[in-house]
Amino acid sequence: MKTNFRTDYCATFNESNEGQEVSITGWSSTVRDHGGVIFIDVRDRSGIIQIVSDPELFPEAHKTIEKIRNEFVINIKGKIRLRSDNSINPKLPTGKIEILAEHVEIFNTCVPLPFQIEDEIDTDENIRLKYRYLDLRRPNISKNFVLKSETMRVIREYFHEHNFIDIETPYLTKSTPEGARDYLVPSRVHQNHFFALPQSPQILKQILMTSGFDRYFQIVRCFRDEDLRADRQPEFTQVDFEMSFVNKEDVMEFTEGLIKKIFTSALDISLDNDFERITYNDSMSRFGNDRPDMRFDLELEDITEIFKDTEFKVFKDVVKKNGVIKCLKVKDANLSRKDIDELTIFAQSYGAKGLAWIKVNGEDLQSPIIKFFSENEIMLLSKNQDLSDGDILFFGAGSSDEVNKYMSAVRLKLGEDLALMDKNDFKFVWVTDFPLFIKDGGEVTSVHHPFTEPVNHDFNSDETLEVKSNAYDIVLNGTELGGGSIRIHKKELQEKVFRILKISEEEYKDNFGFLLSALERGTPPHGGLALGLDRILMFLTGADSIRDIIAFPKTQKASCLLTEAPSKVFSEKQLEELGINLIIPVEE
Ligand code: AMO
Ligand code: AMP
Repeated sequence: MKTNFRTDYCATFNESNEGQEVSITGWSSTVRDHGGVIFIDVRDRSGIIQIVSDPELFPEAHKTIEKIRNEFVINIKGKIRLRSDNSINPKLPTGKIEILAEHVEIFNTCVPLPFQIEDEIDTDENIRLKYRYLDLRRPNISKNFVLKSETMRVIREYFHEHNFIDIETPYLTKSTPEGARDYLVPSRVHQNHFFALPQSPQILKQILMTSGFDRYFQIVRCFRDEDLRADRQPEFTQVDFEMSFVNKEDVMEFTEGLIKKIFTSALDISLDNDFERITYNDSMSRFGNDRPDMRFDLELEDITEIFKDTEFKVFKDVVKKNGVIKCLKVKDANLSRKDIDELTIFAQSYGAKGLAWIKVNGEDLQSPIIKFFSENEIMLLSKNQDLSDGDILFFGAGSSDEVNKYMSAVRLKLGEDLALMDKNDFKFVWVTDFPLFIKDGGEVTSVHHPFTEPVNHDFNSDETLEVKSNAYDIVLNGTELGGGSIRIHKKELQEKVFRILKISEEEYKDNFGFLLSALERGTPPHGGLALGLDRILMFLTGADSIRDIIAFPKTQKASCLLTEAPSKVFSEKQLEELGINLIIPVEE
């Protein structure tokens, strides 16, 4: 891009520009003094070009260049010339040329850096985040943001092609329950009252359907105060949309088209087939969770039936309490006793009481527990699992929730340890037929959010936990990329759901009265979905952490090391105006 300072970006020049007078700007990335002649790699967002300074030819320029250190911001004017054969760098697009510096200006200097601006560094992430502006200069980080920007363009294009309208919803709003805590913002004008930052635009996008916009989308920031993980940030971006007069097939088909377009344009791969589908129950039974990694088999199998009359105490106790026994068969497993012990400790960290196992060695079954099994049990198990030499069976016994939790973790760990999954294999799967409610610590809660439509509207209170919802999640390689549903569009049904969730009439009128009022004033049938944009980018870039996809991310402890937010208020007066008194912990 030409400006009054430069002819173009550094890496846009090549042999065809030989002899051309150019002006470039950027950061001095390496400075090499070859006794008289100085070489500098100048870097900008496009890449690198080498400049060379010759004291004989341009002594004034050389004097300035002698002052340049790493990461100075400079402007070089000079002529492009071909490098001699033995100094060609085939790794750089500009590797065959250099600029002979005639005029040099130093725009700004730079003190010594806490780390080098290079792709491969082993600097502690906290230091990288404190000096995030330097970290973002590193090409393998900055390229993520170029791709994110390009992906947002492709996404917007897709929505506009399909007649969607981009509408902003407020950040200063009311609580939108999505299962996390709210970030609250105190109001100065209405003391003792708070805005909540939206966990998603869920309710307002539904209300836009009431208004008749018919197709809404927004690439929107969402805020959730929850425990952070490698793929979770307190503020993150959703590709959020809603459509009127659609059923779930319409939304799923539209979403597949969007995802295919995103992956094709970013990675140049084609995803021709329809995405697989699995019901929630199948997913829980075969993979132990509702976000199955479908890149490898190694499925869980319920073998409770085989052991219903067992004398093996561990299994017997579980069967008595209506628990389950599940197993995982690893074929030709080359696992040592030490590997098995380590896997047991791993399973225990997910709540397992143990991880029983059987190893097939020729005709023999080796296991510390085999002596407790009857001949009939061994026969049924061998037949059911089609055991052959080299196989190992791992067993999990306990309540269904417990077993699913640790056996799904064991499955993924084995998948990783035995290299059964390929990072470049993209296995999308729709998870459907979720229950509408689950019991969580004795309380009935929504599996998605309370605005999700039940498949059957007329269910009785004793059928609550059996009711299925019209919700669907899109999962990629074991990560939930997005979720959506057809919504409740009638007031009576919405009130029924609130009542089941034990939200009192007073409470739901206070919190969601405006939604109920819209539902009785001509809300059409509607549904939609939201994708996690940052998570999509993790797949597109291969990043292991969501922090590499967000320019100014928060740490695991939800703080920003660059700005040191959250911080104390600027002045006591701010608190006074807000009518806030702080409770200061004693140790401060
Ligand atoms: P849900 O809560 O499933 O649905 O969120 C949709 C998607 O947003 C992403 N996501 C996150 N990404 C990073 N950090 C987080 N803390 C985080 N939380 C969620 C995930 C997730 O699949 N309103 C509904 C959507 C709808 O029904 O239309 C909603 O927000 O990729
Ligand atoms: P124990 O009788 O507790 O020594 O357990 C005997 C074997 O069964 C050990 O190999 C344990 O790892 C295993 N084990 C114990 N409890 C469970 C369980 N709930 N599920 C699977 N294996 C178990």
